[in-house]
Order: sequence, then C-alpha cells, then structure tokens
Amino acid sequence: MKIIDRARIRELMDRELQSYVRTRPRSRELFERARKSLLAGVPMHWMVRWAGPYPIFVKEARGAYIQDVDGNRYLDLCLGDTGSMFGHSPESVARAASEQLSRGITMMLPTEDSIWVAEELARRFGLPYWQIAMTATDANRFSIRLAREVTKRPRILVVNGCYHGTVDETLIDLVDGKVLPRAGNMGPPVDPQVTTKAVEFNDLAAMERALAARDVACVLMEPAMTNRGIILPDPGYHEALREMTRKYGTLLIIDETHTICAGVGGYTGEYGLNPDILTIGKPLASGVPVAAYGISQELSDRVMEKILSDGTDENGLGGTLSGNALAVSAMRATLENVITREAFARMIPLAERFERGVAETIREAGVPWHVTRLGVRIEYHFLPRPPRNGAEANAAKDAELERLLHLMALNRGILMTPFHNMALISPYTTEEDVDAHTRVFSECVHELVK
Ligand SMILES: Cc1ncc(COP(=O)(O)O)c(C=O)c1O
Repeated sequence: MKIIDRARIRELMDRELQSYVRTRPRSRELFERARKSLLAGVPMHWMVRWAGPYPIFVKEARGAYIQDVDGNRYLDLCLGDTGSMFGHSPESVARAASEQLSRGITMMLPTEDSIWVAEELARRFGLPYWQIAMTATDANRFSIRLAREVTKRPRILVVNGCYHGTVDETLIDLVDGKVLPRAGNMGPPVDPQVTTKAVEFNDLAAMERALAARDVACVLMEPAMTNRGIILPDPGYHEALREMTRKYGTLLIIDETHTICAGVGGYTGEYGLNPDILTIGKPLASGVPVAAYGISQELSDRVMEKILSDGTDENGLGGTLSGNALAVSAMRATLENVITREAFARMIPLAERFERGVAETIREAGVPWHVTRLGVRIEYHFLPRPPRNGAEANAAKDAELERLLHLMALNRGILMTPFHNMALISPYTTEEDVDAHTRVFSECVHELVK
C-alpha cells in the first residue's frame, strides 16, 4: 500500500489554488463585495467551507449541472448536500410550485395536496399519521418533544458522530465514554450529559447498558450513518435495536433525511424497519424547504388529547410557515414525479458503475482507501476497510488530503460534497457523467502518488 506524501499534497495544493483563482475572477469579486454585508461573506456560513479560497457563485443550476458566474460548468455530485439529490429544479416541480405561487403561498389552512402527500408518505414509510415541518432539524426537534411528552423521560440517545441538524441535544462528542458538547458547538445551552446519552453505532452491548436505566425517551438515529462517510449497520443490528428499545420502553426515531438515497421508502422501506417515528427533510420537495415526520397509531393515541386540548399554538410543535401551500405542492410534485421507482431503477446501476470506477482506481493506485455505497450515495474513506462507527471514521479524517482532492475535482469541473468524499447520483446523471468522474478521480489519485 502506498503512503501519501504530505509534501506532494502541498505542492499540488499550491498549483490547484492558483488555477482556481485564475479561472474564477467574477466569483472572487462578488465574494469581496459580499464580505462587507454578509457574515463570512455568504448567506450561510457552511458555504465558505468548499475547497477554494472563496466559494463559486452560481448563475444557474439545472438537472445534474451547475454553471457559475465565470462561465465554468460543473457536474454536480454534491446536489445541495442532498437538498437537490433528485436534480436541480425538476420541471414538474418548477411547474407545480409556480402555479401554486400565484394561487396562495401560505394561509395557515390546509390544501388538498397535504392529504395526498400524507397518504403517499404513509404508503412509503409505513407510519399512519404525518405532520409537515420546514426543515429536518425541526422534524427531529418536534419528534423528540413528542417522545419526551409521552414517555415522561428526560434524555435522548444518539450515536457518536451523528448529525441530525442543529438539534441541541444531538450536538455531542463521545470522548472516553463521556458525552461532551461537540467540538466547535456554538453556545451549547446546557451540559449535554443532562439531556443526552451516546454510544457508538453498531455497539449493541453499550446500547443495552444505556437503555436499561429506563430514563431514555427516544433513540434518534440514521439507519445507516451518512455524516461521517457511509457506515452501514452490522447484520441483525436493527432487529436487535428494535427489540431492545421496546423492552426498555424507549421510542425509536429513524431519521431518513439522507438515507432516502436507499430507495423510494428510504432505508426503512428497503429493509423493513419499524420505527415509532420517522423524520425526513431536504430533498422531499426538491429543495423547497419542507420536512415531515410520521408517527405510529399508538403514539398518535397517546398524544392526540394533548395536541387537541392545548388550546394554544405555543406547545413547541410546528411553526407559522410549516405545511404552507407552496411547500406542500412542491412536495407532492416531487413524490409524484421525481422520487419514483423508475428514477431509482435508472440511478442504481449508475451508482454501481460509479462505485466500480472508484474501487478500480483505488486498487490500481495502491492507496489504502475504500469506497462504500448506499443506494445512490457513494463515499470513499481514507481507510483500507469500512469503519464500523463514528470514532473509527473520525480517526481516519484527513482534512488536507480531502481538500486537495475536492479542489482538483472542482478545477476539472466536478463538485464533490464539502466535508465529505461523497457523491450523489441524480435522475439526470448519465453514464458519461459517471465516467467523467472516474477519469478525473483516477487522474488526481495517480498524480498524487506519482
Ligand atoms: C441525517 C440528517 N438529518 C437532519 C439534517 C438536518 O437537515 P436541515 O439542515 O435541512 O435541517 C441533516 C443535515 O445534514 C442530516 O444529515
């Protein structure tokens, strides 16, 4: 196996930074102007975390492609970090949303589309009752509240290395068995040991020890981890987890926001999971802000009285714009026409092709890495074998190498997801696109180990 030469990384980085700046003068101008009015020079600070010294400013995004203000065109494998994973501005969604725009955007009253949407979500994910939220963060926060309300228990449990949005209880690190505020967490409100237990993914013995105290309202978990690279569950993990949560009276919340990449019903639909609550956001309306959470009949029976009797809108669930007509119309169009079985039937073979291309390059170049895939999400790790949990994945993080590979890809017309080596295949991605990535990846890795 080849050891990556750090001096070589820095040498290539200098060359690639120069090339980046040379080909993006207009983005640079806009960034310089933006820094005078936008905090960090962008509307949301993650946008400066791309590999270049300043972000590319977008002129237009369509299907699987983005064009920047300097006239550069990119194959987009980031796809808004899953927000647009089924393509930028699908025609049917653009049409439905523009029609709804002129018929009323938000009324705090339901439209018929919301019933269609809930019926469809119930069919796909197997839970009977649904609420609409604006973001996956919100859907998770509301679900945790429901769990605490019905169980009357104070704590939640998450796995180390999870990400469920800006939900305070989940922004933790597990260090030497202790739950600490996540490194970099801005203004943590309370000591997370008060609110949160954490275990490593795939560690059922630790899970059982944590649940046995019967003080955990809910386990909140992605069915396969996607925010530290892709980490798949061990065989039998979900069956044991479900049994254990039932045994100790803890509710199980499955967050499908990223794992919808596994199929039309997410990992839950593909592998027959049976959660008490399911949350999902990001691509549900092709990027129009919307999220949803579904609950079981039993849970509905336990919370309905409180929901209806409260008499006030200030019970901690929902928001003025939640369930608005525009978002719901975009969600209907997305579920009806975009996130379909036909789309997955086209995308999965392309994702397999992508995975084969990356695996072949890793083998040929002799670098100690591997590639993992979940449905149409593919990620390579700087580790010879797949990690089993967040701690193993964190230990393999190599920010410098990651940045170089991203920058090289950017300069060759390919957008990879920042903070990851992740690629998403959309219904618009073609075989030629996949092969273009394979070529670029191979060229970059071979240059690196030359
Ligand atoms: C699994 C998962 N859940 C929830 C979220 C939060 O989504 P949002 O930032 O749209 O609220 C994310 C964001 O990356 C996520 O990865």
